[in-house]
Amino acid sequence: KKIVTVIGARPQIIKASAISRAIQHQFQHQLKEVIVHTGQHYDSNMSELFFDELQIPKPAYNLNTGSGTHGVQTAKMLEGLEGIFEQEQPHAVLVYGDTNSTLAGALAAVKLHIPVIHVEAGLRSFNKSMPEEINRITSDHMSTLLFTPTTAGLTNLKEEGFCLESHGPVSLDAPAVYQCGDIMYDNSLYFSAVSDERSTILSRYALTKEQFILCTIHRDSNTDRPENLMSIFKALLEIQKQSGQKIILPLHPRTKTKLNTNNEEEVYRAFMNNPAIILIEPVGFLDVIALEKNASVVITDSGGLQKEAYFFKRPCIILRPQTEWIEIVENGNAILADADTGKIVDAFHSLTQKTDFSFPELYGDGNAAPFICEKIITDL
Ligand code: UD1
Ligand code: UDP
Repeated sequence: KKIVTVIGARPQIIKASAISRAIQHQFQHQLKEVIVHTGQHYDSNMSELFFDELQIPKPAYNLNTGSGTHGVQTAKMLEGLEGIFEQEQPHAVLVYGDTNSTLAGALAAVKLHIPVIHVEAGLRSFNKSMPEEINRITSDHMSTLLFTPTTAGLTNLKEEGFCLESHGPVSLDAPAVYQCGDIMYDNSLYFSAVSDERSTILSRYALTKEQFILCTIHRDSNTDRPENLMSIFKALLEIQKQSGQKIILPLHPRTKTKLNTNNEEEVYRAFMNNPAIILIEPVGFLDVIALEKNASVVITDSGGLQKEAYFFKRPCIILRPQTEWIEIVENGNAILADADTGKIVDAFHSLTQKTDFSFPELYGDGNAAPFICEKIITDL
């Protein structure tokens, strides 16, 4: 069977490595994968770096879409993808997660009656002001094979009317839903030892185990509202002062732009001039793993980092009002602190004082990718 995989944003490139690896190692006689890069992310440290580091096959096509408003960006992708799908005539199109590349891939495919495989289906924040929430809901309802990583995801799909019982052959009107665990758990397990071997980031920045904090910020709700970014920076300055720990922030290009344009503000200046706050360019996946494994706490608005903190048994402060990965909050491993200075500082104290963490298997057993490949082969 031939599948076209659509990727575009950093987390999708990383996710794709799990399935590509499973195909190369186990299913090369049954599945042929053609990778299309929409070009949503294009800086080399947001894209190319991962193909080399994670041994992902080079994309057969790159649409070079670049940045733009949601409408412009999605429309350019749709137009390019439609032509490629018509030319390639795949059995199915595989999309990941909830970005504009996901939406464009699913929409272009389903309109050509090509089955859509959605990996990371069913996740909901129940906040439709998030562009990702719109992308998730619509992509799920355009899909024929839905792979959800969590029990919450399965429940959400049931609530939205998906049939979870086993049934006859799948079709556009009779989709199948599977809970399969998280392919990012596959990846974190697989690359953990490689990171131990190759990453030098801790020594490069003189970071000591559990004596530093890892932070990332990129959600539009935080970067595009100066008051939110300001309260997060205030909280980080306060936490740094109280704990004496260094804070390392690999800056998403979106956040870097905001820092450079708002730098007249006093809080921004204090933040940028604090030698214990280490602002760096985005790093590779092996370096993030090293940071995640060794940080005292992870503070983030990233979906990926929330879970990876859990995979590596680190507590997490989520800089959002709600999360799709609700199980880590319910299990006491993460706290939702939004962009509220007081809540973020309190969450830091509460998590650093807590001693009774538990880490049940919430994200499968690290074999989500082969499971997905098997179902593609048998169901489509
Ligand atoms: C996108 C996804 C988000 C995901 C994130 C992962 C959507 C709607 N959002 O957000 O769900 O969590 O990717 O990182 O699809 N930029 C660069 N270089 C790049 C890429 C982006 O400079 O290589 C800058 C541009 O100024 C651009 C801005 O970042 O306008 C935002 O990029 P965009 O892809 O639109 O959204 P993200 O915030 O990256
Ligand atoms: N990541 C990375 N380098 C960085 C920051 C993040 O490799 O400098 C990885 C991270 O480990 C995770 C993924 O990128 O696997 C998450 O992407 P991002 O935070 O951009 O998006 P989200 O997961 O929120 O959609």
